[in-house]
Amino acid sequence: MSRYSLIKRSILLGENKIKNRVVSSPISTNMANNDGTISENVLNYFGNLAANDIGMVTVGAASVSKEGGDAVNGIHIGGEIHEYGLKKLASKIINEGSTPVIQVYHVGAQGNAKYSKQRVVGPSKYMVPDIGTESEELNVDEIIKIENEFVDGIVQAFDCGFRLVEIHLGHGYLLHEFLSSHMNKRNDLYGGSKINRLRIVLNILDKVNKKSKKITKNMGARISANDFIYGSLDLKENKELINILDENNFAYYSVTAGIYETAGQKYIQMKEGSYWEYAYNLKKMTKTAVIAQGNITSLEMGEILIKKKMCDMFGMAQALIADPRLVKKSFNEMENKVIPCVAHLKVGSCHRCRYLKQKDLSFDCITPSSWHRKNLENDNYTKKKEIAFWKMLEKLKKDITGKKLANVKAIQKSFVGKF
Ligand SMILES: Cc1cc2nc3c(=O)[nH]c(=O)nc-3n(C[C@H](O)[C@H](O)[C@H](O)COP(=O)(O)O)c2cc1C
Ligand code: SF4
Repeated sequence: MSRYSLIKRSILLGENKIKNRVVSSPISTNMANNDGTISENVLNYFGNLAANDIGMVTVGAASVSKEGGDAVNGIHIGGEIHEYGLKKLASKIINEGSTPVIQVYHVGAQGNAKYSKQRVVGPSKYMVPDIGTESEELNVDEIIKIENEFVDGIVQAFDCGFRLVEIHLGHGYLLHEFLSSHMNKRNDLYGGSKINRLRIVLNILDKVNKKSKKITKNMGARISANDFIYGSLDLKENKELINILDENNFAYYSVTAGIYETAGQKYIQMKEGSYWEYAYNLKKMTKTAVIAQGNITSLEMGEILIKKKMCDMFGMAQALIADPRLVKKSFNEMENKVIPCVAHLKVGSCHRCRYLKQKDLSFDCITPSSWHRKNLENDNYTKKKEIAFWKMLEKLKKDITGKKLANVKAIQKSFVGKF
């Protein structure tokens, strides 16, 4: 029997048979053209993931309007100009052998005008401490416009060939902000009571259902299991939301946690395996397929999580940025050839791919195994950088061997042992 027999089993999400249980988690790359259309780099990046045995490739955070984006080169969705590129992207992922999924979102009050050149808006006035811009409160007409933009984006994604569409209800972005009493201080129809805080999501789903009853059964949702703010959103608080999505026959839920304000906490929680526990707890609340993620670095770990029934599928982001061939290599028993994301070895050791934290906003990765650099227009990866990477890796490996490594393994083992 293969080491990865559970991972290799297909799964039905809505009307789509996904060939295995590995998900490339949503990643925004800031590599779209200036008008938000799909560039060659975007095509090559996601096409390359699709060609490497990943069951489902999620194209990250496509904003439903220019105002809803976090950076000038984010992907946009909804307008006619996006159709051509989105069709090319979906068919590229299919032709390379994977299932294409696209995530739709609006950045909301976590926007940063410095990067997006747009005004920053939210359900209420709110300021991310690290950014320091207070958002403008949306009026009801503007909220209705955003609801319609979500519907247009979702419908366009399916029309362009994406098999599943993931609505972003987490990470402190606009829809999360409406759901959360920490960020939503309104006292009209869109704020106050829980049903009012849910209204924007309910309206989007109603409008989508009016287009076709079949749409929501091919939708997934990014759900926040904890935003690390006392009294704000966690799974218990999100129970009504989950019931609503269940009633709409959603295909899957992808569990996440944290908002910009509490970003520091999420890496610690991930290291301790809390994100997997969120997936396990969500699985107890629903029959819908659950995708776990956060610090999953190997297929071995994914196989254990599925075996322990903590999730139905698992996602990886940084591990696949660092080595997009991880799955192919592992299926071919070449796990020792996988090059790791160093941030997974030591929290805080690298932020290079987190372009919003960089000065030049270009998305790239420091490992020599990361996405084909020859495809980058401004290839600045030199032999010097490669040597520096190997040195860093050696040092980190030394740092975490012995007691520290044993500790990390013990934490993970005892955690998984609980289930
Ligand atoms: C460069 C980068 C971009 C990301 N973009 C998105 C995104 O567009 N949407 C989203 O929901 N999560 C996004 N994430 C979060 C990842 O999907 C993932 O949940 C997180 O990195 C933890 O998983 P990991 O330990 O496998 O990296 C991004 C992460 C990184 C590193
Ligand atoms: S750039 Fe750094 S943090 Fe990002 S995937 Fe590569 S090694 Fe990991």
